[in-house]
Amino acid sequence: MSLDLHVKAFTRYADSYLTGDEKDELVLLKREHSLRVLENASAIVTGEPLDEDTADLCRLSALYHDIGRFPQIATYGTFNDRESANHGRLGVLALRELGIPGHLPRRDQRIIRIAVGQHNLKTIRSPLPPHLTHPVHVVRDADKLDIFKVMIDHFSSESPNPLVTLGLGGERSDEYTLDVYRSVMLRKEGDYALLRHPNDFLLMLIGWIFTMRYSTTLDLIRRRNLLEDIFSFLPKDDRIRKLKEEVFAFAFYNHSVGP
Ligand SMILES: [Fe+2]
Repeated sequence: MSLDLHVKAFTRYADSYLTGDEKDELVLLKREHSLRVLENASAIVTGEPLDEDTADLCRLSALYHDIGRFPQIATYGTFNDRESANHGRLGVLALRELGIPGHLPRRDQRIIRIAVGQHNLKTIRSPLPPHLTHPVHVVRDADKLDIFKVMIDHFSSESPNPLVTLGLGGERSDEYTLDVYRSVMLRKEGDYALLRHPNDFLLMLIGWIFTMRYSTTLDLIRRRNLLEDIFSFLPKDDRIRKLKEEVFAFAFYNHSVGP
């Protein structure tokens, strides 16, 4: 089954959740997000020295990574995992139930399910076995790349949808939480529980830069101007200026990342 047919099967599955009510907007948001994450994953694997089989598994894992979002929307009407269920886990269940992608060898299906189940973990703690390393990490980088884009569109929009920022809508202001700022400066894991203001969400996204696994991902971030765009929404105070220097130095000048 070619990638094209997987895309068709995925799209059919996503569209089966369209019901004509207000949740359709969320279904379409995640359908389009998944397709863009697939594109990002393709761009990453093209820039990295991976064999074709591994690259295919990375692409399929990317396409299916958020499949759990559709049952999550239908059942709970929210993307907030803390208020509903872990959508990575829901994705594993959906893939098991549907047998997507059923024709693949069992081993490959397992790899895809693991990549889907791990895509939204805060961190991958233990070193992964070699056959899982790239599917898991390519999906995580590709997903974050698209979340940058979605958030930039969201913050540029005249009528932002608070569901996109997990309810942290509200008035745009220069406020941000110092604890969130500090944990980003210290390159600590983001903690959703600390987020109070829309700017906190942007700070957390900026902190993701330090977690990017592939230099190709950082190249894509640079070429797409994603960091400049995110910083443009934040206040221009000394703290934020310092963070910007730090993040740009890491991402574009002396980074040494790689699997
Ligand atoms: Fe996700």
